[in-house]
Amino acid sequence: MAKIGLFYGSTSGVTEELAEKIQGEIGEEICDLHSMEEDFDDVEDLLKYDYLLLGCPTWGAGEVQNDWREPLFDMEIDKPDFSGKTIALFGPGDCTGHGKHFVGALGLMYDQFTALGANIVGSVSTDGYTFEKSTAIRDGKFVGLPLDEVNESEKTDQRIADWLEILKADFPLE
Ligand SMILES: Cc1cc2nc3c(=O)[nH]c(=O)nc-3n(C[C@H](O)[C@H](O)[C@H](O)COP(=O)(O)O)c2cc1C
Repeated sequence: MAKIGLFYGSTSGVTEELAEKIQGEIGEEICDLHSMEEDFDDVEDLLKYDYLLLGCPTWGAGEVQNDWREPLFDMEIDKPDFSGKTIALFGPGDCTGHGKHFVGALGLMYDQFTALGANIVGSVSTDGYTFEKSTAIRDGKFVGLPLDEVNESEKTDQRIADWLEILKADFPLE
């Protein structure tokens, strides 16, 4: 088992591609890739790792993507202990078509895993993003990495590269 577990949910395949790209940048030998739909049985799958990268696109109006819904609901009830776990969040959204709820899922994930004791790292400056509103901002920064394959796919590679640089402070990336 690699040191980092990357878990993602994806309805139309965008987050799946982003997750594969991120794993490719980090290296398969240190990062295992898991689809929430196909590979996730229960929270123990997450708790096997001390370092987690969690990918969740935003659907509905600022809601988490379907594959995360039930696991997050179960965790809210069972309250598994994530203290000692280091988590970084990423997820795509649509800053124009859904600019009032831009990447809201990241905020929901942040609140839930923080409440369970996790240390969430990898916040990102809002500079360079255009959107109307987002519930994924804490202390003036996004709680994770927002990506936008609908409007700004040309920025994705650089955004991922910059984020991985930030994560080096807290993740065993080298
Ligand atoms: C019906 C619908 C609702 C959406 N709601 C939001 C939203 O509230 N906020 C946002 O930033 N993006 C929203 N999006 C954009 C998706 O997050 C974006 O298309 C994402 O890339 C989908 O990722 P996936 O293919 O991995 O599921 C929505 C898209 C659709 C089709």
